[in-house]
Order: sequence, then structure tokens, then C-alpha cells
Amino acid sequence: MGMDYETAVASLFQPEGRLDPYPAYDVIRAHAPVFPAFENQWFITTHALVSRLLRDPGLRVADARDYDRSWPGWRENRGVASVVLSMLQTNPPDHSRVRRAAAATFTPRRVAAMRDVITAQATELIDEMPAEADFMSAFAYPLPIAVICALLGIPESERRWFRQRAADLTVVLEPISSEEEMRRADKAGRELEAYFTGLIADRRHTPREDLTSALVAAQETVLTGEELLANLVLLLVAGFETTTNLLGSGLKILMDHPGQADRLRSDAELAPAFVEEILRYDSPVQLTSRFTVGPLDLDGGVSLPAGAMLTMLLGSANRDPARYPDPHRFDPDRPNVQPVSFGGGAHYCLGAPLARLEAQVAFPLLLRRLPGLAPASAPVRRDRLVLRGFASLPITSGA
Ligand code: HEM
Repeated sequence: MGMDYETAVASLFQPEGRLDPYPAYDVIRAHAPVFPAFENQWFITTHALVSRLLRDPGLRVADARDYDRSWPGWRENRGVASVVLSMLQTNPPDHSRVRRAAAATFTPRRVAAMRDVITAQATELIDEMPAEADFMSAFAYPLPIAVICALLGIPESERRWFRQRAADLTVVLEPISSEEEMRRADKAGRELEAYFTGLIADRRHTPREDLTSALVAAQETVLTGEELLANLVLLLVAGFETTTNLLGSGLKILMDHPGQADRLRSDAELAPAFVEEILRYDSPVQLTSRFTVGPLDLDGGVSLPAGAMLTMLLGSANRDPARYPDPHRFDPDRPNVQPVSFGGGAHYCLGAPLARLEAQVAFPLLLRRLPGLAPASAPVRRDRLVLRGFASLPITSGA
């Protein structure tokens, strides 16, 4: 209460503020839909504007050419390089070409076919869960890792290897990282690149039914070798860090709202509505940025110069009272929930159908098979601004 907007902005960059960024978002949003946060950087805070600007073809992401200008040595950090060279940070026409190739392999049919794998994996993890467990280690990490590895054709014995490397690599998405964190991101990038280089060589020699083989085949005609490698690393990393946080944050929300959890337990058909409201209520990705190419005039008389950085506060847009009345209330019965948690426009999350499916299968299964599920001790949040989730979430399954 009574926080001024400068304190609100500063709090997002401090560990305590990041624990709960929503009060700060309220202050910043109430101050302005387009908020001048730092030199040449604006925060976009409202649902209407974030949705519109994500779809604006006149805006771009920072791509390899931009990095060449601002940080000539960026390719030496292989953590940074694997993200920058992926489709996430590529503009048209390259983005459209790479995205089309990836979308042609990552088809709705391939995703729908994962339902049985997800159900079997989730059931196994629940059945193996000790009465007292850290939900993140026992379920929220291993499920998405198993699913993305099954899709990519990575053998089970390799799976445990990825958690730390992905965590080290995704630090490059944060606005501020220490030298030590950047060094670890580089190391993780190199190790992941080495792993996928081997996998690519194997599938080129002996194709299988997996997504890696399909992408390797696409490389013959439409992708460069560098693009293939960077996008495989992206699929792996984007494929579980975020979904892990959706599962962890979602379970915490359900445990905090036992009446709602009871409804989902007795009616699994409610899962899609619950998952959308969980995505809205605590977005696993809190922000993403775009840049203006030329001057941009926005409503309300705001004029931005060319080269301005627009940081879309997805977590703020999802709690905008102009779009969602009483936004801080978890309410799976809300009509017309369309969170911006998967972004929008050309870069709209390629894995959204898979992430949704995992969560829609997992929550009802967890609630049914573990009816005594409850928090065991205080959870610990990860100290991240962009990828929001828990480091640990101790639970008791009451068994
Ligand atoms: C892009 C969120 C799961 C693959 C994005 C973007 C967001 C996002 C916000 C857009 C970033 C931007 O516009 O700058 C999420 C969330 C997930 C999730 C919240 C889980 C709850 C997944 C999964 C996969 C995946 C499971 C793959 C298996 C991708 C890819 C892109 C992307 C490849 C880049 C698309 C492009 O640049 O064209 N995701 N994601 N994501 N996501 Fe996800």
C-alpha cells in the first residue's frame, strides 16, 4: 500500500520484490499503460496494449544482427548464442521460414499423441512419490522433461542430466545476471550443443519417428546447421523450465484453494478452465521484450523513438482490472480468460498445446490419486523475474 512507482519498479529487480511482483505491477499500471522505466526502455502494463503490441508486425525482437552491433563477443557465450540464434530471437523473413519448419514437425497430431505418454509418466511419478516430498523434484521437473525427451527421442538414461543445464542456460533470459551466472550459462550452452550435435549425427545416419529426425530432415532443405542446433536446444529448454513452473505454481494455487481443488478432483472436465486461470493468475513467463523500428505513436499521446525497448509485462497484463474484474482472485469460473502467458503474434509459444495438455492431465490425476495432498512446510521461490516458479514446494500426500 502506498508504494510509489519508482519503488515499485526498483522492487522488481530485488529478491524480496520478486517474491510477489503483483503489488508493484498494480502501482506501475495505475501510473501508465506505457511506463518509462529506464533510459530508452518502456514497460507495457495493460492487457489491451500488451496483446496489441505483441501482434504488431512493425515491432521486432533483438536478433543476431542487433547483438553484433551492441555486443561483438556474444557468440563466445554459447548460452547466449543458443538463445539468440533460435527462432525466439529471429525476425522475418528468417523467423517465418524457421518457424514454419518447426511447426510442420511439431504438429497437433504429434502433440495429441503424447496424451498417453503424459498420463503414464504422471501416474508413475505419483505412485513413486514418498509421503513427504518436494513436488518440484518429484513431479514438476521430471514430468515435462520426460515428455519433451520422449518427443525429441532422447533416451530415459539421459534425462536427469538436463535439469541443471537448462536452469543454468535460462539465466540469459533474465534482465540482469552476474558474471558467474553468465559463465555457467556458457558452459551449459556448450554441453547442450555437444549433446545435440551427437543426437543430430545419429538421426542423420539412422532416422527414427521422433521430432529430432523430422527437424534433421528439414535441415536438408530449409534450415542451416546453426539454426537446427539452436532450435533443438530451445525446444528442450523452453519445453520444460516453463511447464515445470506452471505445474508447481498451479499445484500451490490448488492447495491454497481447497474448495476449488475439490471441484476439479470430482470433475476432470473442468481442467481446461482451471489451467487457463492458473496461467492467468501466475504466469510462468513474466515478461518479454520488443523493439521499435521507426518512431511509434501510441494512444494517450505517447511517442516512442526508433530503437525503443518495449518490455511487455505479461504478469501485469494478466492481472489488469480493466480486463479481469477482481484480478487478484483465483476464479476458474471467470468467463473468457485469454491470458497472454504464451505471448501472441508471430512468436506465440509453439509449445502451448503441449504445455496445456500436460497441465490438464496432471492436475486432476494428482488430486485424485493423492486426496490428502497438502503443503508440508514453506515453499521457496526461485529468485527469478522472468521465469516465475518455485525452487522447492514441500508437500505431504497424506498417505
Ligand atoms: C515461445 C511461454 C511451454 C516452445 C514462447 C513465448 C512465451 C512462451 C511467452 C513467446 C516469447 C516472446 O514472444 O518473446 C511458455 C509457457 C510455457 C511454454 C508459459 C508453459 C507453461 C513451451 C513448450 C515448448 C515451448 C512445452 C516446446 C516443447 C516454445 C518455442 C517458442 C516459445 C519454440 C518460440 C516461438 C517463436 O519464437 O516463434 N513460449 N512456453 N514452450 N515457446 Fe513456449
